[in-house]
Amino acid sequence: MIYLDSAFIEEVESAVAMGWVKGVTTNPTLLNKVNLSPEVCLKQLTAICPGELYYQLCARDFPGMVAEASKAREIIGDKIVLKIPATELGFRVTAHLSSSINCSVTAIYSPAQAAIASEAGAKYAIAYVNRATRLLGDGLALVREMSEILKDSKTEILAASLKSPEEVAATLQAGADHLTVPMSILNAMATHELSEKTVAEFTTNGIGITGY
Ligand code: E4P
Repeated sequence: MIYLDSAFIEEVESAVAMGWVKGVTTNPTLLNKVNLSPEVCLKQLTAICPGELYYQLCARDFPGMVAEASKAREIIGDKIVLKIPATELGFRVTAHLSSSINCSVTAIYSPAQAAIASEAGAKYAIAYVNRATRLLGDGLALVREMSEILKDSKTEILAASLKSPEEVAATLQAGADHLTVPMSILNAMATHELSEKTVAEFTTNGIGITGY
């Protein structure tokens, strides 16, 4: 599955119109960029998002996170996937909520964290590929190791923090099941200079049932 990583309504509308983008991931930074309250923004996103809509918990204690999860579900309904930080607290919250609500564990930087995400019942383990390359040296190796560890698990790998179509392809080859990217990368993935050139050539030289 390919998700758009954005909270901008216009971007989500454009991505949904592409037809092959099925869901949307948000995070607190993205929600903060939008000129709407998070509640209003999430309601509007829910109305236009065809599939899963990810919301990241911001509360910093167990009861607060559980209460925030239930408020988020009231707003987003069945499309919700909670993003829960890969911390000791986050894993506890995931284990508590994962039987009743779809959970992802986000900001995973080690295969061991992916193993805990699986054990805690997360539907997705989110790897921050480019950040891991920048901070640890090899984000693709992280995805490969996660993929090996999760091969018999129901927890799937969602790759995030991807900065180019080439990095997207390498991440999928490394074993990621899904990916989330900003609008600029969606557009870049769908476009290739040679495809444009080839089509232009056919348009100049050819004919079809509608003519050219
Ligand atoms: C994923 O859900 C995150 O929003 C995003 O990919 C974070 O990565 P970045 O800040 O390195 O782009």
